[in-house]
Amino acid sequence: TRHLLGIKDLTENDIQLILDTAANFKDVLNRPIKKVPSLRDITIANVFFENSTRTRLSFELAEKRLSADTINFAASSSSVSKGETLIDTVNNILAMKVDMIVMRHPYAGAGVFLSRHVDAQIVNAGDGAHEHPTQALLDSFSIRERYGDVAGRKVAIIGDILHSRVALSNILCLQKQGAEVMVCGPTTLIPKYITSLGVRVEHDLIKALNWCDVANMLRIQLERQDIAYFPSLREYSMLYGLNKEILDSLDKEITIMHPGPINRGVEITSDVADSKHSIILDQVENGVAVRMAVLYLLAGKRG
Ligand code: CP
Repeated sequence: TRHLLGIKDLTENDIQLILDTAANFKDVLNRPIKKVPSLRDITIANVFFENSTRTRLSFELAEKRLSADTINFAASSSSVSKGETLIDTVNNILAMKVDMIVMRHPYAGAGVFLSRHVDAQIVNAGDGAHEHPTQALLDSFSIRERYGDVAGRKVAIIGDILHSRVALSNILCLQKQGAEVMVCGPTTLIPKYITSLGVRVEHDLIKALNWCDVANMLRIQLERQDIAYFPSLREYSMLYGLNKEILDSLDKEITIMHPGPINRGVEITSDVADSKHSIILDQVENGVAVRMAVLYLLAGKRG
């Protein structure tokens, strides 16, 4: 496929190629001159209908490091507020001779919808509670960097699984590489279909932490909840919040990940997020190299 809409569409070989390419780009990013000319004939629009810090900035930086021309579109300051549709908005951007669209959207399936209605390559930067493929790829890259291989690793994804695109993309990405995956959280935040994906389900935080090599701590997605959040944030943090005392009580050392943004004191305390067990900022660093790899490989499929 000429798009990256979800991990669902990737084979294990596709994932390995992206991660190997990202490793080469990470070497480039550690040199004094961080830029390569690979995409100097390409223009990319970052089209964000939902807020973002890490994804938007790292896509923009990845594009600049590849020498692409970039433009940024935030729906909140655009003519979307005057009623312009998604397809009209993107077709107007494409009329300015843009080649590729990186899009974040609050609705699941928005990337697939767009790919069927406009003539451009689409990269999904997060669509509602559906997929966030580049996040899962950078998470796998970070696990591989820490352990040498993703295959055989035990990864627990802990928190609000129901509203999380990071959870679904990570489950698919990790399983395709031969990792074992567990989800952990309150029953109200774990969707019933999850067992059909072949993941373990655990409701006890300590058991999940003692099982895993890597704990990926997710935040509570208050913005995706129609009714009052259950359990409350205070209850959640008492039952599922990870603190130093819990980490020190485990049978073994584990690695802590978090896609961000962190709600310090809710799902994770600062003494864990900022500890030597945490690779949270490595994930952010690796996001640039992984997004360079994705854009570079997709640009090779232009036609
Ligand atoms: N991890 C992530 O997607 O963060 P942003 O929402 O800030 O892009």
